[in-house]
Amino acid sequence: VRKMSTGKPLVYVTRNDMPHGGVDLLKKGCDVKFWDHPSPVTRAELLKGVVGANGIYCSLTEKIDKELLDAAGPGLKVVATISVGIDHIDVAECKKRNIRIGYTPDVLTDATAELTLALLLSTSRRLPEAQHEARTGGWVSWAPTWMTGPGLAGATVGVVGFGRIGQAVARRVKAFGTSKILYYNRSERPEAKETGAIKVEFNDLITKSDFVICCAALVPETKEIFNKAAFEKMKPTAIFVNTSRGGTVDQDALIEALQNNTIRAAGLDVTTPEPLPLDSPLFKLKNCVVLPHIGSAAIEARNAMSELVARNIIAALDGAEMPAEIN
Ligand code: DGY
Repeated sequence: VRKMSTGKPLVYVTRNDMPHGGVDLLKKGCDVKFWDHPSPVTRAELLKGVVGANGIYCSLTEKIDKELLDAAGPGLKVVATISVGIDHIDVAECKKRNIRIGYTPDVLTDATAELTLALLLSTSRRLPEAQHEARTGGWVSWAPTWMTGPGLAGATVGVVGFGRIGQAVARRVKAFGTSKILYYNRSERPEAKETGAIKVEFNDLITKSDFVICCAALVPETKEIFNKAAFEKMKPTAIFVNTSRGGTVDQDALIEALQNNTIRAAGLDVTTPEPLPLDSPLFKLKNCVVLPHIGSAAIEARNAMSELVARNIIAALDGAEMPAEIN
């Protein structure tokens, strides 16, 4: 790929705050054009910005669909996202046009698993609520049953989606002395041996688990897999944690389940929509912890993700093997 003007390919970057490493790498061999504002690029500006680009460096906040690919034009060779999730990209449409897709697996696995554990413990041991009490005078004295919540030791933990992140979560929860780890996944995962995780059907998992953790990619089969019926099957003491995509949950059903104590509590790093509107009932519930989609937000992970995006783009523009390509 060679542009006539500078002899370098043109890459459009959808944000001006992507971690430097990756952007600097790109600048060595490409003309790099940014959406140069602190706020996310609007759809209209995005459609204008990508015109003539050979590569697009995007994030999960941009929908990469037919309209956008049309706007970019026939010179577009690669779309690389700074995420492991690719539900914002129309993969079939890209394939049809021979546009290669890069993503960022592996480099964010530890960061996302760490955040999943942090959210799980914050939810079960009620950290935001406890801090609020401490700051606002609710801490009258030490009290034996005050601010109690279920422990992980001895618990059954169910992991829905047993890919890299699900497995990394399982390794971490095991260290807390859980009695059993169950997983639900399309295929059997040999890696499960390491943690002794047992493959079960979805219904089995949600009925038996004290903690239900969603690490599944959002695909048609997992869309709103956590619906009213699912929450009703869970234990009334269950803690539900979601660090994958908001779309795996019927959010109204979850709100109802939390309001009626059908389950004990939920910890969500992902919601529908994002950002979650301030008037969402989820923000009013004491038994819900909401985080603003920060699963991979470890500094090291974000730097590595950005560099991987750049290496994906550079390789694709050279017609070489990409370090992380969606096939
Ligand atoms: C991903 O990578 O898909 C996360 O949601 C953001 O890091």
